[in-house]
Amino acid sequence: MKKVSFAEFGGPEVLQLIDAEEPHAGPGQIRVAVRAAGVNPVDWRVREGQVLGAHPIELPSGVGLDAAGIVDEVGEGVAGVEVGDRVFGEGSSTYAEFAVLGAWARMPEGLTFEEAAGYPSVVETALRVIREVGVRPGQTLLVSGASGGVGSAVLQIARDRGIGVIGTAGAANQEYLRGLGALATTYGEGWVERVRGLGRVDAALDLAGSGVIQELVELTGSPEKVVTIADLGAPEFGVRFSGVAGSVPAALATAVDLISRGRLHIPVEKSYSLADAAAAHADSQAGHTRGRRVLVV
Ligand SMILES: NC(=O)c1ccc[n+]([C@@H]2O[C@H](COP(=O)([O-])OP(=O)(O)OC[C@H]3O[C@@H](n4cnc5c(N)ncnc54)[C@H](OP(=O)(O)O)[C@@H]3O)[C@@H](O)[C@H]2O)c1
Repeated sequence: MKKVSFAEFGGPEVLQLIDAEEPHAGPGQIRVAVRAAGVNPVDWRVREGQVLGAHPIELPSGVGLDAAGIVDEVGEGVAGVEVGDRVFGEGSSTYAEFAVLGAWARMPEGLTFEEAAGYPSVVETALRVIREVGVRPGQTLLVSGASGGVGSAVLQIARDRGIGVIGTAGAANQEYLRGLGALATTYGEGWVERVRGLGRVDAALDLAGSGVIQELVELTGSPEKVVTIADLGAPEFGVRFSGVAGSVPAALATAVDLISRGRLHIPVEKSYSLADAAAAHADSQAGHTRGRRVLVV
């Protein structure tokens, strides 16, 4: 089968489309014929060798966590899913024609594989950070970096729960944030005052890692009301870095419910072929994705 792989850590150019042995579903796993794979920033952080402590990597290595596809092997002990089912979920080395998943759910009606591949990791992350920051219905959540994959999920989950949102994004994404139910303003010079002008902030999420932790503490009044997923320096300010994934099956079940009720839709900004994985990584690393980027097999 064809698979994207890298044999050394480095820039996007280390990604190669190679011929590889097909993987097989072990106990508790399924294998899918991948139709689309989500591109996450962690994919290029792993490729660069940035997250070796958290994820020891043996080279050569495949790439990719998220996938949507058609089940073609069901491992020992797995119930409730059959060969031929359309599923989305999380596994490893998903930038490939076949991949093994450890967590999955049946795709909701009406969703394309391309769209479905964009949901698993970002919905898990969004649910986790909303839970960890402790924001309640009727309160207002400030989201720094609200237009990317995780931000798009956070805004819509918050709206579904009756949590108000103020989001920051680039000038090109202001209408996008408003379309997801948030009050919006731009980041950069003067942003703290612009946020104050939009209203009171009860809790805040840093999704961009753009060095704003101190300001988020000021705006919420307490480091306990701030959570980051992207700023490793946050603990210096007493702010939690959230990095340990919660239950992916539970997140997928919530995603299916929200999507089926028309409450969650994450747009795909651009699709690429497996052969263009390096371009997808370069575009993701540029840091201005609206919604998601995916590879289509
Ligand atoms: N710790 C965890 O568990 C975990 C989980 C998932 C992701 N992450 C990390 O969280 C970050 C976000 O992930 P993602 O998938 O949402 O990324 P993404 O889809 O690439 O989105 C990045 C967003 O950052 C915004 N941005 C860029 N510069 C900014 C600035 N100076 N201020 C505010 N926003 C800015 C961009 O908005 P504009 O285009 O509008 O400029 C873009 O929409 C990544 O660093 C990723 O590695 C961590």
